[in-house]
Amino acid sequence: RAAVIVAIDGPSGTGKSSTSKAVAAQLGLSYLDTGAQYRAITWWMVTNGIDITDPSAIAAVAGKAEIVSGTDPENPTIAVDGTDVGGPIRTQEVTSKVSAVSAVPEVRALITGLQRSIAASAEKGIVVEGRDIGTTVLPDADLKIFLTASPEARAARRSGELKGADVNATREALLKRDAADSSRKTSPLAKADDAVEVDTSELTLQQVIECVVTLVEEKR
Ligand code: C5P
Repeated sequence: RAAVIVAIDGPSGTGKSSTSKAVAAQLGLSYLDTGAQYRAITWWMVTNGIDITDPSAIAAVAGKAEIVSGTDPENPTIAVDGTDVGGPIRTQEVTSKVSAVSAVPEVRALITGLQRSIAASAEKGIVVEGRDIGTTVLPDADLKIFLTASPEARAARRSGELKGADVNATREALLKRDAADSSRKTSPLAKADDAVEVDTSELTLQQVIECVVTLVEEKR
């Protein structure tokens, strides 16, 4: 099949985004960051003063934000109602609130629909990264990867990205978000039965990329 579909899931700080972008760029595939979509709808909720502790308030307005993802791995973009939100979706405020918003079933249904239509229209194939891509969004993906890493490795990577951030505080925030994402009712963070698990704790980014590229090439 020409249009290969690759699902890459796993908790935060395992190298999902860096790996997914590089693999897509190297193989000429599109790239979709589904976390950015959940962050974008969370940014919209915060900006519009929605009480994010109230799931029914979130559900009532979930359809109002128009989220558009650019799928070029060299320049992935995310816009809400025509405004680029690539910067604002990475703030600590959005990061701390995204799990509550993404747990709301109405939000997931809308975003999942968007993800499936983007994947279906990617003529050259696509790498989709997230938490529930292999289990729920694209259960028929040609290749499913589940990235893991020790909490220490993940916290070290994240605090390296967020310059000057305290490693312990980063570690606690990250574990809290993963626990919330793994324990929600609707499509929690989970490894699909047929996913290939790759522990990235002791691997360089380059090694992880090579490993995934090899696995994709075996499927093409
Ligand atoms: O990948 P990233 O850290 O940007 O994801 C932000 C949040 O979006 C996650 O913590 C999770 O709550 C949510 N998410 C999700 N399902 C996905 C991708 C992300 O619920 N497929």
